[in-house]
Amino acid sequence: MTDSDKRNSLSITDNRTGKSYEIPIEHGTIRSTDLRQIKESDSDFGLLGYDPGYLNTASCKSLITYIDGDKGILRYRGYPIEQLAEKSNFLETAYLLIKGELPDKERLAVWTYNIRHNTMTHANVTKFMEGFRYDAHPMGILVGTVGALSTFYPDAKDISNEESRKLQVRRLIGKIPTMAAMSFRHSLGLPYVHPDIELSYTGNFLSMMFRTMERNYRPNPVLEKALDVLFILHADHEQNCSTNAVRSVGSSMVDPYSAIAAGCAALYGPLHGGANEAVIHMLKEIGSIDRIPEFIKSVKSGEGRLMGFGHRVYKNYDPRAKIIKEIAFQVFEETGKNPLLDIAIELERIALEDEYFVKRKLYPNVDFYSGLIYQAMGFPTDMFPVLFAIGRTPGWLAQWIEHVKDPEQKIARPRQIYLGEDTRDFVPIEKRPKRVIDEQKFGICRL
Ligand code: CMC
Repeated sequence: MTDSDKRNSLSITDNRTGKSYEIPIEHGTIRSTDLRQIKESDSDFGLLGYDPGYLNTASCKSLITYIDGDKGILRYRGYPIEQLAEKSNFLETAYLLIKGELPDKERLAVWTYNIRHNTMTHANVTKFMEGFRYDAHPMGILVGTVGALSTFYPDAKDISNEESRKLQVRRLIGKIPTMAAMSFRHSLGLPYVHPDIELSYTGNFLSMMFRTMERNYRPNPVLEKALDVLFILHADHEQNCSTNAVRSVGSSMVDPYSAIAAGCAALYGPLHGGANEAVIHMLKEIGSIDRIPEFIKSVKSGEGRLMGFGHRVYKNYDPRAKIIKEIAFQVFEETGKNPLLDIAIELERIALEDEYFVKRKLYPNVDFYSGLIYQAMGFPTDMFPVLFAIGRTPGWLAQWIEHVKDPEQKIARPRQIYLGEDTRDFVPIEKRPKRVIDEQKFGICRL
């Protein structure tokens, strides 16, 4: 080992054996597999890292998104999120995430054309959409329909073929708003609206959502722009729960529709993409400004969480939340103020001054104000995570492509610390001790 290697290494002494090891450090990281040489005996498996929730484990090397959680910085491919939100549009940002560079005029025109000509879905999608109950959560519908697309495009299994990957990317970004809008209209019993090629990506989505009898539906340009910016802000966020799900499921070399459906499923949860929906429920439950102190007290005593606050990575104001707060005021100029806004602003003010939140570095995240905007635009709360999924699809795809092309990646397969029973012999049922059963636990099986 040279002197410079020694400087970029970690010396470990195993006090169980007295042996010492030099572990190389690269990019401020050690390889967990280097710990395996540290053994108590020859038959020992070797030392493992224990890291539930991946608090301190890098699962990949990535060139896509940079976050500095302490400083509140977010960049896609090096471009600050604030500049993209102001100067780019969603499809251009999607191109940047997936291809790595901003497109020139011609490339952007071709990309936009290709995505917009992939917005139609197979007629059979309508049929299985109709199989969902009238009150099915649109996110549940989205999980199912995105996964089902793999049966329409069996060619997508050819994941090592670059041309095939490009085609699936166009199809997924193109079709996801169509299926999202269908899931919404299904719940209202409204007929589905065909994509309108004359409209922008986001304008077309609004048309598929809200168009009724108009011959030429034209969305409100302020709302169209606001939603487009919200899609940009949600487009990627490095190794979050849903992206990790996409990479992990994708590591089995499954087709991208199945991997993205896994991302949608992960996003459905209230700690992730479901948080914006939970924020509205929380604000409604609080009901009025004078009840905020009581609510904060209950959160501090562990009765629940302040939804839309806190982040695994940001220990500062989420830069997306700052931009969203500004957009909220532009949207409310058009739609009228959301009555929950005053509660949200006061809640934020009180929380940011409260020692509990200050000490834990809990700041508003992307979900704190986004729900208020969506609600003012006319989206029902259960559509909020679906909107998040539309925005996040290019990020998931960029990460999936990076994963598929990364020669260092393998099928995701963590280890465990087994703390269960040692070997024991099977006991026939008549010889097992009788257990007392709580009769109330026997429910009636309902369909
Ligand atoms: N309200 C009250 N206390 C909180 C909150 C919150 N929103 N978030 C974290 N804490 C407390 C938590 O109780 C713990 O306290 P203690 O140290 O006394 O046990 C401490 O802060 C650390 O929390 P943690 O659960 O270890 O932090 P985490 O990094 O595992 O969780 C989080 C991150 C986003 C899941 C969490 O902050 C949370 O549940 N927030 C509310 C849900 C939410 O808004 N989610 C959207 C995240 S942003 C969009 C996205 O990327 O999906």
